[in-house]
Amino acid sequence: MRRLEGRVVAVLGAASGIGAATARRLAEEGAAVVIGDVNLQGAQAVAASIAEQGGRCSALACDIADEDAVRAFMHAVAEAHGGLDGLHVNAADMRALQSDTDALDVPLEIFDRTLAVNLRGHLLCTRHALPLMLPRGGGAIVYTSSGAADFGEGTRLSYAVSKSGLHALMRHVATRWGKEGIRANAIAPGLVITEQLRDHFPEEAREATLALTRSRRLGEPEDIAAMVAMLMSDDGAWITGQVIGVDGGAMLR
Ligand SMILES: NC(=O)c1ccc[n+]([C@@H]2O[C@H](COP(=O)([O-])OP(=O)(O)OC[C@H]3O[C@@H](n4cnc5c(N)ncnc54)[C@H](O)[C@@H]3O)[C@@H](O)[C@H]2O)c1
Repeated sequence: MRRLEGRVVAVLGAASGIGAATARRLAEEGAAVVIGDVNLQGAQAVAASIAEQGGRCSALACDIADEDAVRAFMHAVAEAHGGLDGLHVNAADMRALQSDTDALDVPLEIFDRTLAVNLRGHLLCTRHALPLMLPRGGGAIVYTSSGAADFGEGTRLSYAVSKSGLHALMRHVATRWGKEGIRANAIAPGLVITEQLRDHFPEEAREATLALTRSRRLGEPEDIAAMVAMLMSDDGAWITGQVIGVDGGAMLR
């Protein structure tokens, strides 16, 4: 399918995992894709592999926790492409997640860092992308959330708070700029076996997670990429303000 022909899309957090698969899928659908990531080397490798397949993709260094970096990234997108039609904010600080415990125990620097990237960073991307989208009559914004926002777990407090906050940000954006053509949605993935998790996620934990789904398998990055592509395309034209679970039926809403 080439549903994004002629569109310009930015993916923040796409050097690996879900973001990399999404950048690939959006380019396959015809979009000119710009990747921003703290891991510039990884982002450049993804962009090069997309270009090898005939897609249009470039990569820039961008730490979404740093407003100057986000501003510079969006400026570069505007210089190169004249505007923006789609924004996928996907980055999260997955290292902080390893020390993210409970309300009594979590180091406050882990809480602050998690919110700085996973929530404030998403606000910064939104704030600096909207002025590139509104003059084109609107566009689609997709945030990567997580089922963790709604699971009510006894651990991963900061992560759950950041992802819940993302839902509020998304609903705000959908409401505030809906009549100006902006659609905003969040995808809440279940367990997605990325290249990192493939080697480090214990088999028993995989089995236990799979047992909680209504599916015969766990998620692949391409499952999330497919939903982002749909939401970015005209097939998603009447979908906005939603948290969409892509999780093999782990959560039934
Ligand atoms: N894999 C899963 O099972 C799963 C489940 C639910 C939600 N998610 C969400 O999906 C998203 C992607 O996760 P993933 O599993 O693909 O992990 P990943 O680590 O492969 O991807 C995260 C990307 O974000 C980048 N990044 C991190 N901090 C950044 C920053 N400050 N600025 C810019 N880029 C930054 C990383 O370099 C990396 O390229 C995250 O938002 C995560 O919370 C993942």
